[in-house]
Amino acid sequence: MNAAPLGIFDSGIGGLTVARALFERLPQESVIYFGDTARVPYGPKSPDTVRRYSAEILAYLVQRGVKAVVVACNTSTAHALPHLQARSSVPVVGVIEPGARAAVAATKTGKIGVIGTAGTVASGAYERAIRALRPSADVHSQPCPLFVPLVEEGWFDHPATELIAREYLDPLRRAGVDVLVLGCTHYPLLKPLLARVLGEGVSLIDSAAETAKEVTRELAARGLDAPAANAPEHLFVVSDDELHFRKVGARFLGEKLQKVEVVPLG
Ligand code: DGL
Repeated sequence: MNAAPLGIFDSGIGGLTVARALFERLPQESVIYFGDTARVPYGPKSPDTVRRYSAEILAYLVQRGVKAVVVACNTSTAHALPHLQARSSVPVVGVIEPGARAAVAATKTGKIGVIGTAGTVASGAYERAIRALRPSADVHSQPCPLFVPLVEEGWFDHPATELIAREYLDPLRRAGVDVLVLGCTHYPLLKPLLARVLGEGVSLIDSAAETAKEVTRELAARGLDAPAANAPEHLFVVSDDELHFRKVGARFLGEKLQKVEVVPLG
């Protein structure tokens, strides 16, 4: 079981930022990554639809023999995590709790900003997770739906992206947040631009890095970590459009994607 792969899934390409953080922290682990490129984006979809899609992917990964599943997608975590955990035969880890924990640890003023897709923000999942840890926290959430297509376009440092970021982040700047949670798979790629727009004194919390730490702890606690001598294999599975996934995915992952399969679900 310890040499079995770790499953990671996302609505599409964005979860590769989480895969990248996991590859760095757990280089001995094999991974099967599923990107639901046929049905992306999840951000504007209803909670029921996102739950159904997420449950189908979980079942697929479990059937492929994974030892644990990381829900890299913030929108899936927001709408479906307890639903998936209740149905899964393997541990399931989401991205929201690790991000919330890091935000609470980093804030000095208790004023925390959260940005995410429309679905993630509407769910209130980050607010609940932050308030469970610090009931007095003053949480300001802002949906930033235009960031996803801008990042997929590769416009990480484009004047149009900066203009939109200024518009989205203005209420958070005025609220005086000292921490901003990047509550979407795509946003870590905008870090330098967001830091510039927010100015000094605001810490950016990258859920990808925090989740990788959480997965490391979870595997160790359950005695599921791969032996140090394991020869890891990384397999990427998408539900559509392998070419786009390969091309844009390399930017998210920071390296070329070697093995990609297409498996339509549903
Ligand atoms: N992966 C999604 C998330 O982290 C962003 C893209 C989408 O809307 O599907 O919320």
